[in-house]
Amino acid sequence: MNKIELIKPDDWHVHFREGSMLEKLVPETSKLYNRAIVMPNLSVPIINSKQALEYKKKILNFSENNNDFQPLMTFYLNKDISTSDLIEAFENNVVFALKLYPAGATTNSSKGVKDMTEIFHILEVMSNYQIPLLIHGEVNNDKVDIFDREKLFIENELIKIIENFPNLKITLEHITTKFAVDFINQSSKKIKASITPHHLVLNRTDMLAHKIKPHYYCLPILKREEDRKALLEAASNINQKFFLGTDSAPHDLKSKETSCGCAGVFNTINSIQILAQIFDNNDKLDCLEKFISINGAIHYNLAKNKSKLLLKKQKKPIIFPDTLNINDLNIKVFRPNFDVFWQIEKEKKLS
Ligand code: NCD
Ligand code: ZN
Repeated sequence: MNKIELIKPDDWHVHFREGSMLEKLVPETSKLYNRAIVMPNLSVPIINSKQALEYKKKILNFSENNNDFQPLMTFYLNKDISTSDLIEAFENNVVFALKLYPAGATTNSSKGVKDMTEIFHILEVMSNYQIPLLIHGEVNNDKVDIFDREKLFIENELIKIIENFPNLKITLEHITTKFAVDFINQSSKKIKASITPHHLVLNRTDMLAHKIKPHYYCLPILKREEDRKALLEAASNINQKFFLGTDSAPHDLKSKETSCGCAGVFNTINSIQILAQIFDNNDKLDCLEKFISINGAIHYNLAKNKSKLLLKKQKKPIIFPDTLNINDLNIKVFRPNFDVFWQIEKEKKLS
């Protein structure tokens, strides 16, 4: 097979940042994806409808290359969120979901949640209105080894949330472990998970052996090869509980290549091509469309996209740009550890 036609995909987890970064990042996403769930972890987090609407307008100014593109906005979950503002924002399509960051777990999360019970009154409203809860599933505790933080979050926090709110629609985002895959597989249909391209491609040895690769450093951190294999198996699983969220999270090169580097991988511009290649390398190409274009829409009760992408396998490896340059910022483009031959040809509207 050297050609595939796919329903246009959605990115169920992306960081657009602000200012000049946003101007360049949005069109890269809208070119490839019809919808994107936009993360709220800006330097001043998005916590109300006014901020979400302003941010959404800025995004729409730069997505003119795709008239169908919809940014799906999120609030940064915090005990002080006004539930009346939330309900109004949800009913008016200003907010799509709420994002839970355990305090201090990742970039710009200092204002996250310290004690889950402090947000239970908001989860109650979300459950009643079926507002999705998106979770960065890692405990942030200096006493917990970084490689165990996802497992402990599931055991100590997620199970409690599910027991208290069995009807809440939950996405455990960017999962990284076999433990999380097994947990999602045995959970109710209300709970599903997103997976990033980089966690399907890399393990922690790729990042740490034979010289450290700061551009592979992201959170949750890459895990063992057995975890990567479980993620790949899940992404091509017929039960449709897993879908793509790129977690494309750019940082300037200077903040990555330093003594105290930021977490985040920028993969938007080659995400689909890399996914096609990894699925192809594992004889799973027939499962790609479900993972990138169908399973997420089902989870969020949205229609499938109406346009299509055509991917063609080239004879020679594709050369992607090394960096995306934005004024004096340089963002390293994710480079997998294999050649990529799948290229995007063109887009078709479904009649
Ligand atoms: C993200 C970022 O930089 O905003 N970083 C990352 O490694 N994924 C934050 C996040 O989603 O955890
Ligand atoms: Zn993220």
